[in-house]
Formats: sequence, C-alpha cells, structure tokens
Amino acid sequence: MRIVVAGARGQLGAAVVRECAPAHEVVPLARADLDIADDRAVAASIDPLRPDAIVNCAADNRVDYAEDHPVEALNVNAFGVRALAQAARRIGATLVHYSTDFVFDGASRSPYREDDRPNPIGVYAASKLLGEWFALDAPRAYVLRVESLFGRAEGGPKEKGSVATILDELRAGRAPRVFVDRTISPTYVIDAARATRRLLEATAAPGLYHCVNAGACTWLELAEELATRLGVEPRFDAVRMADVSFRARRPQFSALSTDKLAAAGIEMPPWRTALREYVTHASVYR
Ligand SMILES: NC(=O)c1ccc[n+]([C@@H]2O[C@H](COP(=O)([O-])OP(=O)(O)OC[C@H]3O[C@@H](n4cnc5c(N)ncnc54)[C@H](OP(=O)(O)O)[C@@H]3O)[C@@H](O)[C@H]2O)c1
Repeated sequence: MRIVVAGARGQLGAAVVRECAPAHEVVPLARADLDIADDRAVAASIDPLRPDAIVNCAADNRVDYAEDHPVEALNVNAFGVRALAQAARRIGATLVHYSTDFVFDGASRSPYREDDRPNPIGVYAASKLLGEWFALDAPRAYVLRVESLFGRAEGGPKEKGSVATILDELRAGRAPRVFVDRTISPTYVIDAARATRRLLEATAAPGLYHCVNAGACTWLELAEELATRLGVEPRFDAVRMADVSFRARRPQFSALSTDKLAAAGIEMPPWRTALREYVTHASVYR
C-alpha cells in the first residue's frame, strides 16, 4: 500500500511513519514539504502520488493560543482537513484523521462513546470537531480520537506533552504538578500508530473511533503509576482544576470508551500496560 503521511515530523506522525514503513511504501510529508492549509499545495503534492491512503497527523494543537487566533486554528484543523478529504475523494484514497477528547464538554460521568453528542468548549476544540466532519465527508475515512498523547518513536521529535513533563520531573527528584480531578484516557503514540496500521490493513467499517489506551485515570493516578514504574518516591504537587486558570477551558472528564474499536478487532492495551512499555522505551529514546 502507498501511504502518504502529512505532519510526518510530529509526535504521532513520526510514530505512524515508523509503524507503517516496514510493510508499506510510506511517503512522509513534513510541514516544510506540504502545508495542508494550502489547498493548491495539497492537490499538487498528493494527487500525483496516487496514494492508497492519506494519514493526516498535521494539526495546530495550540489550545490556548487558538482562543485569540481562531482563523489560524481553523485553517489547519478544519480547512486543511477538508483539502485532504477532497484529495482523498479525487484519487480514491482512504483518509485517516485524528481528533481529540476535547470535542466533549467533560460533563459526563461515564466514558464517552462515539455516538455521544460533542459539545466543544473552546476554539481549538471546535476547530477539531469541524475537522472531523470534513474528514468524514471523504468516501472512506477513519477519524480516530486520541488524547493526552505520550511516547516517542525512534526519529520522532522531542516529547513535549504533560506525561513527558511528569516523567522528567519525577526523574529529577522534583514533585510534578498534577490534577486530582481531571480524568483522562491517555494514548501511547505507539499504540495509536499500531491501531492505524491495523485499520488500514483490515476491513473495519470506516467512521469515527476512539483510539486511546483502555481505561481511564486521573492525572494523579497516572503520575503515581509512573513513579512506581520508575521506582522513585511518589511526591506530587496535587492541584484541582479550579486552582489553575488556562486561557481555554478544558473538559474535566475525558474518559473515552474503546468498545467500538475492540468490536472492530482492535483491542487497545490498558493505560497501565502502555505506561510500562513507555517507561522501558523512554530510557532508550529520551
Ligand atoms: N498531543 C496530544 O496530546 C493530542 C491530544 C488530542 C489530540 N491530538 C491530535 O493528534 C494528532 C497528532 O498530534 P501530535 O501531538 O502528534 O501533534 P504535533 O506533535 O504538534 O505534530 C503536528 C505536526 O503538524 C505540523 N503542522 C502544523 N501545521 C501544519 C500545516 N499547516 N501543514 C502541515 N503540517 C502542519 C507540525 O509542524 P510544526 O511542528 O513545524 O508546526 C507538526 O509536525 C493531531 O490531530 C492532534 O490534534 C493530540
């Protein structure tokens, strides 16, 4: 299969390239190769390649910045995805696109399912929801919602997410700041990349899937597990969401159900298993 990966130098993009490259012809396109917000550039660079699949890992993830710069967020997260969906339609390619737990408002108390109604509470979140809709307009599209990404594929960029920050703080003997009342289903990029390859190689029905590690935890529980795995003293600066002010609001409860992906034959490993693999792996690549 020929697979074009847009945003190939990002955290997830690098993992998808690494996962798919041994078995497929992968064309990695970094931002310098293709700006997905430029419709003409999308047509000029993707159409002649005639890929079987376009995997879009490009995104503008500046959640707080987006509140005051909505057009920048929309150009990449919504209209860039529309351009890729249009290319997929023209050339008959499968489109894989990634979205986020932030499409929900966080008011639920049970894990969100794919058919739960989104209600974004910020500009970034709204731009990502629009991107989902544009992606699903492609004749054959998989939209995979991920959240709180962690992990780094060989050759990937330096990690910058919250999990990496907690890991670094714990290793340095400091007490990382963690939320006691924000619930997430974290996503190991390596597992998300594996799921992506399996979806492309299998015959699962196209559509929207939650692609996170199975289960859910608070940030404090995640940090405790990391401390255990590292064998360091579990010292934390535990805070509540109400104690911290962000420019953009975040959902307080972001557990996502992975039942639909499991029913399609792809079981996501539990988050503790993923963290264990991450800690082992991180000592090699960080
Ligand atoms: N990270 C998370 O915790 C998280 C949570 C929920 C959902 N997601 C979603 O998961 C997907 C992958 O995220 P990630 O964490 O891997 O992001 P990332 O590391 O920030 O990578 C995104 C990549 O997209 C590139 N990019 C930005 N604007 C572009 C444009 N106009 N054209 C082409 N490339 C562009 C970036 O290049 P530059 O670095 O040069 O800007 C970067 O290489 C995204 O859809 C994201 O919204 C991520």
